[in-house]
Amino acid sequence: GLSTSSSLNAKIQEVIVIGGGLMGAGIAQVAAQTGHKVTLVDISQQVLDKSNARIAESIKRVAKKQFKDDADGAGKFIDSSLANMNIATTANEALLTADLVLEAVVENMALKQKLFAEYDQIAPAKTIFASNTSSLPISEIASSSSRPDRFGGLHFFNPVPVMKLLEVVRIPETSDETFDAMVAWGKAMKKMTVDCKDTPGFIVNRLLVPYLMEAVRLVERGDASAKDVDLAMKLGAGHPMGPFELADYVGLDTNKFIMDGWSARFPDEPLFRQSEMLNKMVAENKLGKKTGEGFYKY
Ligand code: CAA
Ligand code: NAD
Repeated sequence: GLSTSSSLNAKIQEVIVIGGGLMGAGIAQVAAQTGHKVTLVDISQQVLDKSNARIAESIKRVAKKQFKDDADGAGKFIDSSLANMNIATTANEALLTADLVLEAVVENMALKQKLFAEYDQIAPAKTIFASNTSSLPISEIASSSSRPDRFGGLHFFNPVPVMKLLEVVRIPETSDETFDAMVAWGKAMKKMTVDCKDTPGFIVNRLLVPYLMEAVRLVERGDASAKDVDLAMKLGAGHPMGPFELADYVGLDTNKFIMDGWSARFPDEPLFRQSEMLNKMVAENKLGKKTGEGFYKY
Protein backbone atom coordinates (compact mmCIF):
# COMPACT_ATOMS: atom_id res chain seq x y z
CA GLY A 1 0.00 0.00 0.00
CA LEU A 2 0.90 3.67 0.02
CA SER A 3 3.36 4.95 2.56
CA THR A 4 1.61 6.52 5.54
CA SER A 5 4.68 8.31 6.89
CA SER A 6 4.14 12.05 7.16
CA SER A 7 5.63 13.37 3.95
CA LEU A 8 6.89 16.93 3.84
CA ASN A 9 4.16 19.53 3.25
CA ALA A 10 1.34 17.07 2.71
CA LYS A 11 -2.19 18.49 2.45
CA ILE A 12 -2.94 20.99 5.20
CA GLN A 13 -5.60 19.50 7.47
CA GLU A 14 -4.60 20.47 11.02
CA VAL A 15 -4.18 24.18 11.63
CA ILE A 16 -3.09 26.24 14.61
CA VAL A 17 -4.02 29.92 14.64
CA ILE A 18 -1.96 31.96 17.12
CA GLY A 19 -3.70 35.11 18.35
CA GLY A 20 -7.42 34.92 18.96
CA GLY A 21 -8.37 38.54 18.28
CA LEU A 22 -10.25 40.04 15.36
CA MET A 23 -8.35 38.24 12.59
CA GLY A 24 -7.36 35.02 14.35
CA ALA A 25 -10.95 34.27 15.36
CA GLY A 26 -12.18 34.83 11.80
CA ILE A 27 -9.47 32.65 10.27
CA ALA A 28 -10.12 29.85 12.78
CA GLN A 29 -13.84 30.05 12.09
CA VAL A 30 -13.43 29.70 8.34
CA ALA A 31 -10.94 26.84 8.79
CA ALA A 32 -13.45 25.01 11.02
CA GLN A 33 -16.31 25.71 8.59
CA THR A 34 -14.31 24.20 5.74
CA GLY A 35 -13.56 20.95 7.58
CA HIS A 36 -10.12 21.62 9.03
CA LYS A 37 -9.19 20.65 12.56
CA VAL A 38 -8.24 23.97 14.15
CA THR A 39 -6.81 25.15 17.46
CA LEU A 40 -7.18 28.85 18.26
CA VAL A 41 -4.56 30.07 20.74
CA ASP A 42 -4.44 33.32 22.69
CA ILE A 43 -2.60 34.27 25.90
CA SER A 44 -5.80 35.86 27.19
CA GLN A 45 -8.67 33.57 28.24
CA GLN A 46 -10.90 36.65 28.25
CA VAL A 47 -10.13 37.28 24.59
CA LEU A 48 -10.84 33.62 23.78
CA ASP A 49 -14.22 33.75 25.54
CA LYS A 50 -15.16 36.89 23.62
CA SER A 51 -13.99 35.42 20.32
CA ASN A 52 -15.87 32.19 20.97
CA ALA A 53 -19.10 34.16 21.30
CA ARG A 54 -18.31 36.20 18.17
CA ILE A 55 -17.56 33.02 16.19
CA ALA A 56 -20.83 31.37 17.29
CA GLU A 57 -22.71 34.49 16.16
CA SER A 58 -20.89 34.70 12.84
CA ILE A 59 -21.31 30.99 12.00
CA LYS A 60 -25.05 31.46 12.47
CA ARG A 61 -25.03 34.26 9.86
CA VAL A 62 -23.03 32.09 7.46
CA ALA A 63 -25.34 29.10 8.00
CA LYS A 64 -28.40 31.26 7.41
CA LYS A 65 -26.98 32.36 4.07
CA GLN A 66 -25.79 28.88 2.95
CA PHE A 67 -28.84 26.94 4.13
CA LYS A 68 -31.69 29.36 3.48
CA ASP A 69 -34.73 27.12 3.86
CA ASP A 70 -32.94 24.17 5.43
CA ALA A 71 -32.91 24.57 9.21
CA ASP A 72 -31.71 20.98 9.63
CA GLY A 73 -28.75 21.48 7.30
CA ALA A 74 -27.91 24.78 8.98
CA GLY A 75 -27.90 23.12 12.41
CA LYS A 76 -25.64 20.32 11.22
CA PHE A 77 -23.26 22.81 9.57
CA ILE A 78 -23.01 24.80 12.80
CA ASP A 79 -22.47 21.71 14.97
CA SER A 80 -19.84 20.15 12.73
CA SER A 81 -18.00 23.48 12.35
CA LEU A 82 -17.87 24.05 16.10
CA ALA A 83 -16.79 20.43 16.65
CA ASN A 84 -13.71 21.09 14.47
CA MET A 85 -12.55 23.84 16.77
CA ASN A 86 -10.54 23.88 19.99
CA ILE A 87 -9.42 26.92 21.93
CA ALA A 88 -6.36 26.96 24.16
CA THR A 89 -3.97 29.29 25.94
CA THR A 90 -0.92 27.37 24.71
CA ALA A 91 -0.05 25.77 21.37
CA ASN A 92 2.20 23.08 22.80
CA GLU A 93 -0.02 20.02 22.40
CA ALA A 94 -1.44 20.90 18.99
CA LEU A 95 2.06 21.71 17.68
CA LEU A 96 3.03 18.04 17.77
CA THR A 97 0.77 17.20 14.80
CA ALA A 98 0.00 20.55 13.07
CA ASP A 99 0.32 20.92 9.29
CA LEU A 100 0.20 24.71 9.48
CA VAL A 101 0.88 27.31 12.18
CA LEU A 102 -0.53 30.70 11.16
CA GLU A 103 0.10 33.63 13.48
CA ALA A 104 -2.26 36.58 13.87
CA VAL A 105 -0.90 38.16 17.06
CA VAL A 106 -0.42 41.91 17.41
CA GLU A 107 1.68 43.62 14.72
CA ASN A 108 5.01 43.36 16.58
CA MET A 109 8.14 41.91 14.95
CA ALA A 110 9.90 40.86 18.17
CA LEU A 111 6.83 38.98 19.41
CA LYS A 112 6.26 37.19 16.09
CA GLN A 113 9.94 36.17 15.95
CA LYS A 114 9.93 34.95 19.54
CA LEU A 115 6.85 32.77 18.98
CA PHE A 116 8.18 31.12 15.80
CA ALA A 117 11.61 30.50 17.40
CA GLU A 118 9.78 28.61 20.17
CA TYR A 119 7.45 26.67 17.86
CA ASP A 120 10.37 25.72 15.62
CA GLN A 121 11.75 23.63 18.50
CA ILE A 122 8.49 21.72 19.01
CA ALA A 123 6.77 21.36 15.62
CA PRO A 124 7.67 18.44 13.33
CA ALA A 125 9.56 19.03 10.07
CA LYS A 126 6.38 18.87 7.97
CA THR A 127 4.77 21.89 9.68
CA ILE A 128 4.49 25.03 7.55
CA PHE A 129 4.78 28.37 9.37
CA ALA A 130 2.98 31.46 8.10
CA SER A 131 2.17 34.99 9.18
CA ASN A 132 -0.98 37.05 8.66
CA THR A 133 1.01 40.28 9.12
CA SER A 134 -0.39 43.38 7.41
CA SER A 135 2.88 45.22 6.96
CA LEU A 136 5.97 43.48 8.35
CA PRO A 137 8.55 41.72 6.15
CA ILE A 138 7.86 37.97 6.07
CA SER A 139 11.61 37.33 5.55
CA GLU A 140 12.45 38.99 8.85
CA ILE A 141 9.82 36.98 10.74
CA ALA A 142 11.00 33.76 9.04
CA SER A 143 14.63 34.41 10.02
CA SER A 144 13.74 33.43 13.61
CA SER A 145 13.07 29.83 12.53
CA SER A 146 15.25 27.17 10.95
CA ARG A 147 12.67 26.48 8.21
CA PRO A 148 12.52 29.46 5.81
CA ASP A 149 11.74 26.98 3.01
CA ARG A 150 8.54 26.12 4.85
CA PHE A 151 7.59 29.73 5.61
CA GLY A 152 5.33 32.24 3.88
CA GLY A 153 2.68 34.90 4.25
CA LEU A 154 -1.05 34.14 4.34
CA HIS A 155 -2.81 37.49 4.49
CA PHE A 156 -6.57 37.49 5.11
CA PHE A 157 -9.01 40.42 5.15
CA ASN A 158 -11.46 41.65 7.74
CA PRO A 159 -14.18 40.33 8.15
CA VAL A 160 -12.58 36.99 7.26
CA PRO A 161 -15.87 35.04 6.89
CA VAL A 162 -17.04 37.55 4.27
CA MET A 163 -13.97 38.81 2.38
CA LYS A 164 -13.13 36.39 -0.43
CA LEU A 165 -9.45 37.24 -0.92
CA LEU A 166 -6.30 35.61 0.42
CA GLU A 167 -2.87 37.00 -0.48
CA VAL A 168 -0.26 34.22 -0.60
CA VAL A 169 3.23 35.61 -0.11
CA ARG A 170 6.47 33.82 -0.83
CA ILE A 171 9.96 34.76 0.26
CA PRO A 172 13.00 33.76 -1.86
CA GLU A 173 13.51 30.67 0.34
CA THR A 174 9.90 29.42 0.18
CA SER A 175 9.90 26.05 -1.58
CA ASP A 176 7.49 25.35 -4.43
CA GLU A 177 5.94 22.55 -2.32
CA THR A 178 5.26 24.99 0.52
CA PHE A 179 3.87 27.63 -1.81
CA ASP A 180 1.62 25.10 -3.57
CA ALA A 181 0.37 23.76 -0.22
CA MET A 182 -0.48 27.30 0.93
CA VAL A 183 -2.37 28.08 -2.29
CA ALA A 184 -4.22 24.75 -2.10
CA TRP A 185 -5.18 25.49 1.51
CA GLY A 186 -6.48 28.92 0.47
CA LYS A 187 -8.74 27.24 -2.08
CA ALA A 188 -9.85 24.67 0.52
CA MET A 189 -10.76 27.69 2.70
CA LYS A 190 -12.95 28.79 -0.26
CA LYS A 191 -10.94 31.94 -0.85
CA MET A 192 -9.64 33.37 -4.14
CA THR A 193 -5.87 33.58 -3.92
CA VAL A 194 -3.44 36.05 -5.42
CA ASP A 195 0.35 35.69 -5.33
CA CYS A 196 2.64 38.45 -4.20
CA LYS A 197 6.29 38.92 -3.32
CA ASP A 198 7.37 39.99 0.16
CA THR A 199 6.90 43.70 -0.51
CA PRO A 200 5.51 46.29 2.01
CA GLY A 201 1.74 45.87 2.28
CA PHE A 202 1.67 43.19 -0.43
CA ILE A 203 -1.03 44.21 -2.95
CA VAL A 204 -4.06 45.40 -1.03
CA ASN A 205 -2.48 47.31 1.86
CA ARG A 206 0.16 48.91 -0.36
CA LEU A 207 -2.72 50.66 -2.12
CA LEU A 208 -5.29 50.86 0.69
CA VAL A 209 -3.21 52.24 3.56
CA PRO A 210 -1.79 55.25 1.66
CA TYR A 211 -5.36 55.94 0.47
CA LEU A 212 -6.67 55.91 4.07
CA MET A 213 -3.83 58.21 5.15
CA GLU A 214 -4.50 60.60 2.28
CA ALA A 215 -8.11 60.79 3.49
CA VAL A 216 -6.91 61.65 7.03
CA ARG A 217 -4.55 64.33 5.63
CA LEU A 218 -7.38 65.80 3.55
CA VAL A 219 -9.49 66.22 6.70
CA GLU A 220 -6.45 67.39 8.73
CA ARG A 221 -6.00 70.22 6.21
CA GLY A 222 -9.65 71.17 6.69
CA ASP A 223 -10.54 70.54 3.04
CA ALA A 224 -13.62 68.44 3.82
CA SER A 225 -15.29 66.65 6.74
CA ALA A 226 -14.77 62.94 7.44
CA LYS A 227 -18.48 62.38 6.91
CA ASP A 228 -18.42 64.02 3.47
CA VAL A 229 -15.26 62.15 2.42
CA ASP A 230 -16.96 58.86 3.32
CA LEU A 231 -20.15 59.78 1.51
CA ALA A 232 -18.13 60.86 -1.52
CA MET A 233 -16.16 57.61 -1.79
CA LYS A 234 -19.27 55.46 -1.29
CA LEU A 235 -21.45 57.29 -3.80
CA GLY A 236 -18.74 58.57 -6.13
CA ALA A 237 -16.46 55.55 -6.28
CA GLY A 238 -18.76 52.69 -5.27
CA HIS A 239 -16.82 51.66 -2.16
CA PRO A 240 -18.86 49.72 0.45
CA MET A 241 -17.35 51.85 3.23
CA GLY A 242 -15.74 55.28 3.14
CA PRO A 243 -12.09 55.57 4.28
CA PHE A 244 -12.97 56.74 7.81
CA GLU A 245 -15.55 54.01 8.36
CA LEU A 246 -12.99 51.53 7.09
CA ALA A 247 -10.17 52.92 9.27
CA ASP A 248 -12.45 52.59 12.33
CA TYR A 249 -13.38 49.07 11.22
CA VAL A 250 -9.75 47.94 10.76
CA GLY A 251 -8.68 49.65 14.03
CA LEU A 252 -6.77 52.92 14.27
CA ASP A 253 -4.05 51.19 16.33
CA THR A 254 -3.48 48.73 13.49
CA ASN A 255 -3.29 51.64 11.03
CA LYS A 256 -0.77 53.37 13.30
CA PHE A 257 1.38 50.21 13.74
CA ILE A 258 1.59 49.97 9.96
CA MET A 259 2.45 53.67 9.48
CA ASP A 260 5.04 53.64 12.31
CA GLY A 261 6.84 50.70 10.73
CA TRP A 262 6.76 51.99 7.17
CA SER A 263 7.73 55.59 7.99
CA ALA A 264 10.73 54.30 9.98
CA ARG A 265 11.81 51.91 7.20
CA PHE A 266 11.12 54.30 4.29
CA PRO A 267 11.62 57.86 5.68
CA ASP A 268 11.78 59.36 2.15
CA GLU A 269 8.42 57.97 0.96
CA PRO A 270 5.81 60.74 1.30
CA LEU A 271 2.95 58.22 1.09
CA PHE A 272 4.19 56.64 4.35
CA ARG A 273 4.34 59.89 6.35
CA GLN A 274 2.79 59.82 9.85
CA SER A 275 -0.35 61.78 10.71
CA GLU A 276 -0.56 63.84 13.92
CA MET A 277 -4.34 63.40 13.97
CA LEU A 278 -4.11 59.60 13.84
CA ASN A 279 -1.36 59.49 16.48
CA LYS A 280 -3.37 61.71 18.83
CA MET A 281 -6.51 59.58 18.48
CA VAL A 282 -4.60 56.38 19.24
CA ALA A 283 -2.97 58.04 22.30
CA GLU A 284 -6.51 58.85 23.52
CA ASN A 285 -7.52 55.20 23.02
CA LYS A 286 -9.91 56.17 20.22
CA LEU A 287 -9.15 53.02 18.27
CA GLY A 288 -12.34 52.78 16.24
CA LYS A 289 -15.19 50.32 16.47
CA LYS A 290 -13.47 48.08 19.02
CA THR A 291 -13.21 50.82 21.69
CA GLY A 292 -16.53 52.46 20.85
CA GLU A 293 -14.98 55.59 19.33
CA GLY A 294 -12.68 56.49 16.45
CA PHE A 295 -13.58 58.91 13.68
CA TYR A 296 -17.16 57.96 14.61
CA LYS A 297 -18.91 56.95 17.86
CA TYR A 298 -20.37 53.41 18.09
N1 CAA B 1 -19.64 37.03 9.82
C1 CAA B 1 -20.46 36.45 8.95
N2 CAA B 1 -21.19 37.14 8.05
C2 CAA B 1 -21.06 38.49 8.05
C3 CAA B 1 -20.20 39.17 8.93
C4 CAA B 1 -19.46 38.39 9.85
N3 CAA B 1 -18.60 38.94 10.72
N4 CAA B 1 -20.28 40.50 8.67
C5 CAA B 1 -21.14 40.65 7.66
N5 CAA B 1 -21.62 39.44 7.28
C6 CAA B 1 -22.56 39.16 6.19
C7 CAA B 1 -23.95 39.51 6.59
O1 CAA B 1 -24.62 38.41 7.16
C8 CAA B 1 -24.57 39.93 5.27
O2 CAA B 1 -25.04 38.79 4.59
P1 CAA B 1 -26.32 38.91 3.62
O3 CAA B 1 -25.85 39.76 2.47
O4 CAA B 1 -26.63 37.51 3.24
O5 CAA B 1 -27.37 39.57 4.43
C9 CAA B 1 -23.40 40.48 4.46
O6 CAA B 1 -22.22 39.97 5.08
C10 CAA B 1 -23.39 41.98 4.47
O7 CAA B 1 -23.34 42.47 5.82
P2 CAA B 1 -24.19 43.69 6.36
O8 CAA B 1 -25.49 43.77 5.64
O9 CAA B 1 -24.20 43.59 7.85
O10 CAA B 1 -23.33 44.98 6.08
P3 CAA B 1 -22.70 45.53 4.74
O11 CAA B 1 -23.52 45.21 3.55
O12 CAA B 1 -22.33 46.93 5.05
O13 CAA B 1 -21.35 44.67 4.60
C11 CAA B 1 -19.01 44.54 4.93
C12 CAA B 1 -20.37 44.68 5.59
C13 CAA B 1 -18.92 43.18 4.24
C14 CAA B 1 -17.99 44.62 6.04
C15 CAA B 1 -18.84 45.66 3.86
O14 CAA B 1 -19.14 46.92 4.43
C16 CAA B 1 -17.43 45.74 3.30
O15 CAA B 1 -17.06 45.00 2.39
N6 CAA B 1 -16.62 46.70 3.84
C17 CAA B 1 -15.21 46.84 3.44
C18 CAA B 1 -14.37 45.84 4.18
C19 CAA B 1 -12.93 45.89 3.79
O16 CAA B 1 -12.49 46.65 2.93
N7 CAA B 1 -12.11 45.04 4.45
C20 CAA B 1 -10.70 45.01 4.26
C21 CAA B 1 -10.03 45.79 5.36
S1 CAA B 1 -8.30 45.87 5.13
C22 CAA B 1 -7.74 44.45 5.78
O17 CAA B 1 -8.43 43.65 6.34
C23 CAA B 1 -6.27 44.22 5.61
C24 CAA B 1 -5.39 44.68 6.68
O18 CAA B 1 -4.31 44.07 6.81
C25 CAA B 1 -5.65 45.88 7.50
P1 NAD C 1 -6.08 41.90 17.70
O1 NAD C 1 -5.46 42.86 18.65
O2 NAD C 1 -7.55 41.85 17.56
O3 NAD C 1 -5.59 40.41 18.08
C1 NAD C 1 -4.28 40.11 18.45
C2 NAD C 1 -4.33 39.07 19.56
O4 NAD C 1 -3.01 38.57 19.82
C3 NAD C 1 -4.85 39.60 20.90
O5 NAD C 1 -6.06 38.93 21.22
C4 NAD C 1 -3.74 39.26 21.90
O6 NAD C 1 -4.22 38.81 23.17
C5 NAD C 1 -3.02 38.14 21.17
N1 NAD C 1 -1.65 37.89 21.63
C6 NAD C 1 -0.73 38.80 22.02
N2 NAD C 1 0.40 38.16 22.41
C7 NAD C 1 0.19 36.83 22.25
C8 NAD C 1 0.97 35.66 22.46
N3 NAD C 1 2.21 35.74 22.95
N4 NAD C 1 0.41 34.45 22.19
C9 NAD C 1 -0.84 34.36 21.72
N5 NAD C 1 -1.64 35.43 21.49
C10 NAD C 1 -1.12 36.65 21.75
O7 NAD C 1 -5.37 42.17 16.27
P2 NAD C 1 -5.88 41.78 14.79
O8 NAD C 1 -6.55 42.95 14.20
O9 NAD C 1 -6.56 40.46 14.85
O10 NAD C 1 -4.48 41.65 14.04
C11 NAD C 1 -3.66 40.50 14.18
C12 NAD C 1 -2.65 40.44 13.04
O11 NAD C 1 -3.35 40.41 11.79
C13 NAD C 1 -1.69 41.61 12.94
O12 NAD C 1 -0.44 41.17 12.46
C14 NAD C 1 -2.36 42.52 11.92
O13 NAD C 1 -1.45 43.37 11.27
C15 NAD C 1 -2.93 41.50 10.97
N6 NAD C 1 -4.10 41.90 10.16
C16 NAD C 1 -5.06 42.75 10.68
C17 NAD C 1 -6.17 43.10 9.90
C18 NAD C 1 -7.26 44.01 10.42
O14 NAD C 1 -8.09 44.47 9.63
N7 NAD C 1 -7.34 44.31 11.72
C19 NAD C 1 -6.32 42.55 8.63
C20 NAD C 1 -5.34 41.65 8.14
C21 NAD C 1 -4.23 41.36 8.92
